[in-house]
Amino acid sequence: MGDQKMRHELINGLNGHLLGIKELIRKSLEAKKFAYCPYSKFRVGAALLTHDGTVFTGCNVENACFNLGICAERIAISKAVSEGYRDFKAIAIASDMCEHFISPCGGCRQFMREFGANWDVYLSKPDGSYVEMTVEELLPASFGPEDLRMKKVNIRNEF
Ligand code: THU
Repeated sequence: MGDQKMRHELINGLNGHLLGIKELIRKSLEAKKFAYCPYSKFRVGAALLTHDGTVFTGCNVENACFNLGICAERIAISKAVSEGYRDFKAIAIASDMCEHFISPCGGCRQFMREFGANWDVYLSKPDGSYVEMTVEELLPASFGPEDLRMKKVNIRNEF
């Protein structure tokens, strides 16, 4: 994704969160240090801010069976959910790319969307600069848990 396409590039500010964005990004950069990525050598860190200000961090964890690797964002979200947190305000993501803001993969966008479309994602660079997007912006016209509750045709009436 071209940096020009990002709608907002914020410099600083609390944006209503209990924790400063810069601090959340700093935590994602810290989390990146634990990345286990011997195959891709592409380190990623994530820091997830919950409704009460608790932060859960994650890093990518790869595997010799390549397709079993897990992204940093999914680790952070799973850690939070496994401790009873499902209400998220923001997630900051960090990588080692100097010239590009790290952008979450499609699977992680869907994983975020499970817990709402209206929360913030901070895509950062190693120098701490970032762009802010919402889950909705990253994954428009998404499929979510509400869709499973929609009225459906009775499959017995199908041809
Ligand atoms: N990766 C993440 O952890 N998050 C992303 O948003 C993009 C990709 C990881 C997966 C894999 O371990 C490595 O980066 C290279 O794809």
